[in-house]
Amino acid sequence: MSVKFAVIPAAGLGTRFLPATKAMPKEMLTLVDKPLIQYVVEEAFEAGIDTVVLVTHAAKPSLENHFDRQFELETDLELKNKLALLGVARNTLPQGMKLVSVRQGKALGLGHAVACAAPVVQDNPFAVLLPDVICYHAQQNATDQLVTDFGQHGVSSIALQAVDPAQVHKYGIAGVSERGQITQLVEKPSAEQAPSNLAVLGRYLFTPSIFAELAQTQRGVGGEIQLTDAMQALLQHQPMRGVTFSGEVHDCGDKLGYLAATLTFAQRHPELGEAFKKLLKS
Ligand code: UTP
Repeated sequence: MSVKFAVIPAAGLGTRFLPATKAMPKEMLTLVDKPLIQYVVEEAFEAGIDTVVLVTHAAKPSLENHFDRQFELETDLELKNKLALLGVARNTLPQGMKLVSVRQGKALGLGHAVACAAPVVQDNPFAVLLPDVICYHAQQNATDQLVTDFGQHGVSSIALQAVDPAQVHKYGIAGVSERGQITQLVEKPSAEQAPSNLAVLGRYLFTPSIFAELAQTQRGVGGEIQLTDAMQALLQHQPMRGVTFSGEVHDCGDKLGYLAATLTFAQRHPELGEAFKKLLKS
């Protein structure tokens, strides 16, 4: 069964990035010239997904607007014969991709946000991409790696990356067997309690069974409905795989992580890269 849906939870408050995120969604922060949300929509598209379910909030209409047509802008660019820019403005949503948005009225946690997508996704496997985590891999993006793994094994999976053992307390950490099965998931463990140094990085692939688990999940850490709790429950009766991702992972919800990502992406940018490197040197 192929994976056609991706859920992108974008209804959070973005408090770590205040004041930037007071009136602007964190997911609209730009890496060079594209908002974070567009990077993850493109990642899903490149992985063969054709429907994005954007979980958003009343205070964040710019997220939906970014992927909609902008008639005045398009007419103006057309009249001025700025056709390259017209293409850029029109194709924020890759051609052939559908975007459905659902609302999460109150930010009750990541698990709750994913559950809000259930009426659209229904009985289908789906990917989840956290839009404030930007991944890069020159050959195969992180979501595509999970989709490929699903094609081979047909079970849920989580993208993982090794982190410095001294930093495991900042992440969700997975225990993984030799055959790639997740044995344990621990949220922000101490170095002694951690089953490994493999951190959950913000890309998941779920069978629809996760929705039944989410429906049962009570509020956990921080009073929020945690995705990790539902994943732990799913693990009790369905196998789940860990897929190690070897590319770059940037936590753009964190100010320093965002700055590092900006430097990396600007240097790699096809039009600005060389000039930016010179600028850095000078
Ligand atoms: P984060 O925890 O990084 O986002 O969630 P946040 O809560 O917005 O940010 P901080 O911690 O206050 O700075 C990861 C993703 O999940 C979404 C967020 O919008 C973000 O893209 N999210 C989180 C929801 O959609 N709903 C929630 O209730 C929580």
